Formats: sequence, structure tokens, C-alpha cells
Amino acid sequence: MKQASVSGLEGVVAAETKIGLVDGEIGQLVYRGHYARRLAVSRSFEETAYLLWYGALPGKEQLTAFKARLAKHRKLTPELRRLMDAIPEETPPMSAAMSVVAALQGSEGMTAWPPSAEQAERLTAVLPVIVAYRHHLQNGTEYPEQAAETDHVAHYLHLLFGRPAWAPHVRAMNAYMVLAMEHGLNASTFAARVVASTGSDIHSAVGAAIGAMKGPLHGGAPSGVIKLLEEIGSKDNAEPYMRSLLERGERLMGFGHRIYKTSDPRAEALREVTAGLAKDDPWLDLAQHAEREAIRLLEEYKPGRKLFTNVEFYAAAVMRAVRMPPVLFTPTFTAARVVGWTAHVLEQSQHNRIFRPQSVYIGPAPSGD
Ligand code: ACO
Repeated sequence: MKQASVSGLEGVVAAETKIGLVDGEIGQLVYRGHYARRLAVSRSFEETAYLLWYGALPGKEQLTAFKARLAKHRKLTPELRRLMDAIPEETPPMSAAMSVVAALQGSEGMTAWPPSAEQAERLTAVLPVIVAYRHHLQNGTEYPEQAAETDHVAHYLHLLFGRPAWAPHVRAMNAYMVLAMEHGLNASTFAARVVASTGSDIHSAVGAAIGAMKGPLHGGAPSGVIKLLEEIGSKDNAEPYMRSLLERGERLMGFGHRIYKTSDPRAEALREVTAGLAKDDPWLDLAQHAEREAIRLLEEYKPGRKLFTNVEFYAAAVMRAVRMPPVLFTPTFTAARVVGWTAHVLEQSQHNRIFRPQSVYIGPAPSGD
């Protein structure tokens, strides 16, 4: 019987979840009953990860114990070093991360099924180490063995840049990583759930998710916004430069969204976090000014189109402010989204049914016998 085909599964409900809610109509992103924009400005990466995995924010003692576990698991072990050294130097960071994550399956006595929160913690702890080690390897710079920060995000930035990060930059990056952790049944999260539904292990599910995230249509870098800000260059040039783009019928990168037809709550949270930092960072100052001018110009040139700032705009501003090399934008997104993927893998394993959608055959009818 012929059935309607559904391109890209748009609008198809494929899972029930208690982890996250994305409502594009009213601009809401909710993590287990908490607004993500509030978590981003008031809670740490660790508190939010704990919430997504365990269903509630941690108490003081739970948080201390949890942070100690993450610190223990973020070591560059000889096994991990060997694995990464064996990958060809020219392998891009996301492909290297995918291979290393898959290869870690079975290490330290971890069973394949069912996936556990401990495995989610270990994977989340180790991903920044993988990203930073590969980055130093590829650049011929020294991996800082002695980064002593206990906070996950501060530790990650220290590993990348070889020195302790400036506290306001840590706060901005913390907010970004909290907001990047979870966003419903996006392509990579769906990939993770599909793999988990087969009874495969959490490392394979996360490896598949990294593969999906690597695609430019999903984890693509906010480089268009960086280019826009660099071309604008100074506050004085913001209005005339963007006006000239709109006059030529071009789009302003970092504005408009397919789902959010009102303010993107992630952009709002990042605007709030970066507002206090703009006086100390010329890039954030320029971004805020450019945003105000862009919104005004979009109302003038595209009245009634509901064009608001999207998350890419402030993600770019934060990445540029902390001097994150563009090649690390997607790996950094990955180091945050691994929390959402693993939360979904755990949820899938608790009420598992293998995914088995159907296809509609549109090929030729059989001929002959
Ligand atoms: N600048 C100028 N005009 C815009 C912009 C923009 N950023 N976005 C949409 N418009 C205009 C279009 O020209 C169109 O105008 P028209 O009616 O006169 O033809 C109208 O608004 C509707 O545009 P659509 O493309 O139909 O809107 P859609 O919701 O499909 O597009 C998209 C969403 C692709 C994100 C779009 O807004 C865009 O190209 N933005 C710039 C690129 C960008 O910021 N991408 C990152 C998105 S965030 C993310 O993916 C996580």
C-alpha cells in the first residue's frame, strides 16, 4: 500500500522524552523543567549535566562528589595517549574524536549494555581532553599536563590555551556550553538514540552522534557571523555595512531561524551573559552594537518577517572573544552536546524499542517472472 513519504521526518514524533523541550512558537528551551536560559546564567556546566542525567539539580555534597568524579576521569591516560598518537596527524578533529570514543569501549571494565550514567560521566569528562590533545598534536604545541582547575569549562580552556582562562571568558563559555547541551531530537541526538535502540553500547552511540554532528548542515561553525563582525570591524561601520548588505539582497548572518519565530532563548541568555563583559572585551562590545543595528535594519528592510537574533550570533561572539580557533568550534559544541546525547541514550535504554521506520518503494515495478 502506498503511504505518504516524509522528507527529513519533519514533524514526525519519534520518541517521548523527559529531558528537553524545544518550543519554537513561544521561544522556550526547557531542560527537565528548568528554563535553559536561566541555567546558563546561574548554573555551572556540571550542575546542568547532572540535571540532564539524573533528573534533578545536585545538592552541595552531590555536586562536590560529582566534580571529583569528572576530575578523576579527565586524565590523559597512557592508553588514551597511545590511541590518539596512532591516528594520522591529518585526520580532522571530529573524525579523530569519533574513532577514539569508539575505541574506548571496553576499557576499564565497562560493560556494553545497559549504558550507565557512569559511562556518560566518563565520556563527558574525557572529550575535552581528546579535543585539546589532538589540537596540540596537530599544532606542534605542548599539551598542558598540569591544568589544575576543578571546574569543567575552566579546565577545558586551560587545556586548549595552555594557561588559566580569564574568569569572564569562563563564564561566557560556561553559558554557551550549557545552552549547547541539549536541543530535542536533532540529527545527532536521533542518531545516538537509534544506535542505542539496537542494544549497542554508549560509545558507539556517541561515536555515531559525533559523525552526524560533523556534517556542515548540523554542527557547522558560526563562521559566517565571525566573518560579518570582522568585515564590520568597528562600531561606526556597523550600520552602513549591514545596510549595504541588505540593499544588495544579502542576508545578515546570525539572524532568523527555521524553528524559533520569536526570540531564540539561547541567544537571549548569551546576550545577558555577554552584556556584563562587553566593557572589557571589544569583540563583545562590537557584537552587541551590531546586533542592535541589525534588528533595526531588519525591521526596516524585512518588515513582519519575525527575524530575531539566533544562537549562532552570540556563539560566534563568545568564540571570538575567547580566541577559540575556528577549527575547534564544532569539537567544542560536541564537548557540550555529549551530555544531551548520553542523557538520551540512557533514556532510550530504559524504555527500549528498536527504531524501525519504513520506506516507500518508488523504484520500477518488477518485470518478467
Ligand atoms: N537577513 C536578511 N533577511 C533574512 C534573513 C537574514 N538573516 N533571514 C531571513 N530573511 C528574510 C528572507 O530574505 C525572506 O525575505 P522575503 O520574504 O522578502 O523573501 C524572509 O526573511 C523569510 O526567509 P526564509 O529563508 O523563508 O526563512 P527561514 O525561516 O526558512 O530561514 C534561516 C531561516 C535559513 C536561518 C534564515 O533566517 C537565514 O538564512 N539566516 C541567516 C543565516 C544564519 O544565521 N544561520 C544560522 C541559523 S541558527 C542555526 O542553524 C542553529
